[in-house]
Amino acid sequence: MLEREVQNTGKVLVLGHRGAMGHAPENTLVSFAKGLELGADMLELDIHMSRDGELIVMHDGEVARTTDGKGHVKDLTLAEIKKLDAGSKFDARFRDERVPRLVEVVEWAKTRIPLVIEIKGDPIPAAGIEEKLIEMLREFGTVDDTLVISFHHPSVKRVKELEPRVMTGILFTGMLVDPVAAARAAFADSVRPSYAYWTPELVAQVHAAGLGASSWIVNHEAEMDYVVPMGLDSIGSNFPERLRAYVDRVGRGRRT
Ligand code: G3P
Ligand code: CA
Repeated sequence: MLEREVQNTGKVLVLGHRGAMGHAPENTLVSFAKGLELGADMLELDIHMSRDGELIVMHDGEVARTTDGKGHVKDLTLAEIKKLDAGSKFDARFRDERVPRLVEVVEWAKTRIPLVIEIKGDPIPAAGIEEKLIEMLREFGTVDDTLVISFHHPSVKRVKELEPRVMTGILFTGMLVDPVAAARAAFADSVRPSYAYWTPELVAQVHAAGLGASSWIVNHEAEMDYVVPMGLDSIGSNFPERLRAYVDRVGRGRRT
């Protein structure tokens, strides 16, 4: 089993956000390879379902921001999505990059690095996406190496009902009255707001409840100065090398 997020060790796992989206086109194989190369401990990615039921790695429900195409993933077939250029909008030197199927990323990552898979919706997750995801993780034997997260908490709950061994987490923006209760309601293992919502008190409360504490997205040293000393279990970054260097320097890296 690859090393994965564990609650309350005092060490921070570095999550490469959409791979290493500060350096390469987000959610592409080249971005995942870059994240691994730059020292990420886990790689985060987002999934939608295509019209013909394929799990597709993309952040937005629409393809226009990151590719040369138009339309929604849910209205396009895999063949149509595979024709798209997923690299040039980031930089012309990535023009041959394609939108990956999740199966390609899971297969590549299996012996390299654990994944954090975020179930996206357009506006809500596609019916059956949780079943397809768990089926794939079982097929590749990566259930124990994967963390599944979502802003759509019923999806998080469904994933845990389908496969209790898979680690999960709830995402949210803004502040909840009771993040621990929200995690419990979704049968989740971790609480994952944006970094600005974390306080040392909330980290202590989450850890006391036996839950993991994770944050997104920290790219700059001032943000690292704020969140790293709190004892979070993992932090996402578009520049995993910056966070890697920081946590290793202050003795909070899992490898230090
Ligand atoms: O890891 C969670 C983070 O990725 C959530 O925000 O919009 O980048 O998917 P977003
Ligand atoms: Ca995400």
